[in-house]
Amino acid sequence: MIDCAIRTQNLNLFYGKFHALKDVDFCVYKNKITALIGPSGCGKSTLLRCFNRMNDIYEEVKITGEIKIFDQEINNIDIIELRKRVGMVFQRPNPFPFSVYDNMVYGLRIHGIKLKKSEEEEIVKSCLSSVLLWDDLKDKLHISALELSEEMKQRLCIARLLTIKPEIILLDEPCSALDPIATMRIEELMIELKKDYTILIVTHNMQQAARVSDYTGFMLLGELIEFGETSQIFTSPKEIKTEEYITGRFG
Ligand SMILES: Nc1ncnc2c1ncn2[C@@H]1O[C@H](COP(=O)(O)OP(=O)(O)OP(=O)(O)O)[C@@H](O)[C@H]1O
Ligand SMILES: [Mg+2]
Repeated sequence: MIDCAIRTQNLNLFYGKFHALKDVDFCVYKNKITALIGPSGCGKSTLLRCFNRMNDIYEEVKITGEIKIFDQEINNIDIIELRKRVGMVFQRPNPFPFSVYDNMVYGLRIHGIKLKKSEEEEIVKSCLSSVLLWDDLKDKLHISALELSEEMKQRLCIARLLTIKPEIILLDEPCSALDPIATMRIEELMIELKKDYTILIVTHNMQQAARVSDYTGFMLLGELIEFGETSQIFTSPKEIKTEEYITGRFG
């Protein structure tokens, strides 16, 4: 398929006996923002976690079907390489309890990327600039990341992914700990970042999905009920369940 950064076919996931993802056929287009929406427990995070094999940490997980990352079968990609190519940002900003600078170079270190000090500093500068933190933090690189505001922490978590040049960024409810203004600014950042990255975001917030995403998938009880261009999903959904959800009749 053309331009699919992520593609699944007949994807099923079981937590023990519980069937959490059911025959999911899904595509995340390159350099677009795709949103996953649906009520709590429908499997949004489970689906997202398939794409950097984060579900592997749970016992008794069984996955069948196919997941391809840029046409490459996911299980054929070395896990360290995969996590480098597919970065993830979580609900609660989770910077390491280190300085801003050490957060920024952590990825380079664990991936064994050896650079001259000046090259390293250049990467820190450019990645902090990409998330609009450089001007605020350039004289504070030594302070603990835990001292930053929640919004800055989340920006830092995005910036530290960029240092290792991922292709895809997964965001699981990245704004749920943020106030409306910070949320709006992170949304603007996502739109900026899609020039260079492919973005998949899980959100509870339908307005957010409508504002930022190019494509939207609606999930219910482990199924991908509908997938399409965001404008179509929100204005003329094909499935009655999608319509009920977006008009607030359940969820
Ligand atoms: N590690 C796990 N072991 C067993 N069951 C799990 C595990 N993680 C999730 N589940 C179950 O799988 C289903 C889907 O969960 P998931 O967290 O993917 O939903 P979600 O759509 O992200 O929900 P929310 O909007 O609340 O974050 C739920 O019924 C959940 O209880
Ligand atoms: Mg979730």
